[in-house]
Amino acid sequence: MNRVPTGIESLDKKIGGGYPPGKGVLITGAPGAGKTIFGLHLMHYSCVQGKRCVLIATEESPEDLLEQAAMFGMELGPFIENGMLSIKQVLEIRAGAVARAAHLIDGFSNTEIDLIDECHLDRSFRHDKIGFNIDEMDIIDIIKLVPDGTDVLVVDNLGVLAFGLDIKQFRDKFDTLNRVLNERMVTTVYVMDDAAYQLTHQIADYSTHGAIKLFVKENPYTGKMERYISIPKMRSTKISLDLTLFDITDSGIQLQKGKNVEIPG
Ligand SMILES: Nc1ncnc2c1ncn2[C@@H]1O[C@H](COP(=O)(O)OP(=O)(O)O)[C@@H](O)[C@H]1O
Ligand SMILES: [Mg+2]
Repeated sequence: MNRVPTGIESLDKKIGGGYPPGKGVLITGAPGAGKTIFGLHLMHYSCVQGKRCVLIATEESPEDLLEQAAMFGMELGPFIENGMLSIKQVLEIRAGAVARAAHLIDGFSNTEIDLIDECHLDRSFRHDKIGFNIDEMDIIDIIKLVPDGTDVLVVDNLGVLAFGLDIKQFRDKFDTLNRVLNERMVTTVYVMDDAAYQLTHQIADYSTHGAIKLFVKENPYTGKMERYISIPKMRSTKISLDLTLFDITDSGIQLQKGKNVEIPG
């Protein structure tokens, strides 16, 4: 099977050359575990290869994401300029809604208006005429933010769109999103924070083709905090279930060779 390189060579070696094309993979982990950086590697490498990429950012601004990527030598700016990469600022619409509710602002930014239009969210005047009703963005609305012809998608962080849904709603919506993106052959990495992942009873794993878990743990022998990756699931791929240590270096994520470890603690 052809693969979509992850942008992390040491990870590609572990999963048969990269992510399964046209499928969805879930990356979960606590804050600071490295999820966003995994996504940035995929976006940068795919852009370099001339693939059309979309990054849906629900918790960080494009400026912050570009700055973080640049720290690892991955310049994303030129790909935004030439249209290969589109960053959808879902953070903006969330922050805007809160700020309007608190009467800190009363208008909409252009970014918000674009998103509201793209997602066909209702933006009707409230009866009291002091503002707008805005539908909340939904997991399914992600589909509307992914234009035809998109090759690679990163949703960072899906968890934000899962709050308030019960388990069945979440499962149904996430399955539907996955199915539509599969049909359209969009290779997708869903980043999901551990809080939302646990709240939805880790059910997201069932919908996707693959699952990658990141965590930081204390090494009981040295007392030092270390980063680990575990890959419990990758369909059609021979994988090792061992934990692997990884580092975040000046050039980004690097899995340590031959450093499979037993689960500490
Ligand atoms: N240049 C760097 N060198 C080493 N570590 C870094 C560098 N940049 C960021 N990090 C580490 O990466 C972590 C953030 O990773 P990130 O992917 O944003 O986490 P997550 O998305 O899982 O919350 C930071 O907490 C920091 O420890
Ligand atoms: Mg993140």
